[in-house]
Amino acid sequence: MDLQPDIIKTDRYNICHQHLFQTPLFEIQTDHIDNEELSNLIYKMREDGGGEVKSNYGGWHSETKSSETGLDEFEGFFENTLDKILPHLPFNPPIQNVIEIGAWAMINNKGNYNILHNHISNNLDLSGVYYVKVPEGDCGSISFRDPRGSVYGNDFFFDRFCQKDAYRNRFPIEGLLYLFPTFLEHCVLPSQVDGDRIAISFNLTLS
Ligand SMILES: [Fe+2]
Repeated sequence: MDLQPDIIKTDRYNICHQHLFQTPLFEIQTDHIDNEELSNLIYKMREDGGGEVKSNYGGWHSETKSSETGLDEFEGFFENTLDKILPHLPFNPPIQNVIEIGAWAMINNKGNYNILHNHISNNLDLSGVYYVKVPEGDCGSISFRDPRGSVYGNDFFFDRFCQKDAYRNRFPIEGLLYLFPTFLEHCVLPSQVDGDRIAISFNLTLS
């Protein structure tokens, strides 16, 4: 789906500026999730041990839970959330079912960050991140990178059309949920503050 074109009028021509190949980022502010309970569950997961290193530099990354084997602590978060959102997203045909969810928690503190990565894998359709706990101050924006790989081979276009900016940063807000296609590369900038920034990230297989 592309945005409507703009018309640039000159004294002789109408220049139709078409916006090809839009990349969606869906931002949803939730208000029904008990974030304190959820953060306590995630702290308990960390206390119980386990975790793994993926894109994270420092911080704690839980093991991935899946809807196939049991989402456990994340069950309450997904309940009544995705089914109220996904059918309304502008896909054609619309999303009807969630076939599988894979989800993990991240706790970042001062100096922790996540390197640039994407979530491309067979059968994964959309990715998401939900902010459970956000401390005051600069606790690390999520930064999305322009996915048009060939744009970096054209300095003229990159300088004058993209203003030399390949990234779009979004500051985390408690209760905020982002959904985006798995190919959209992103990183998390280093937290500058003491205090835990807790997020749940996930991948969805959809039909
Ligand atoms: Fe990610």
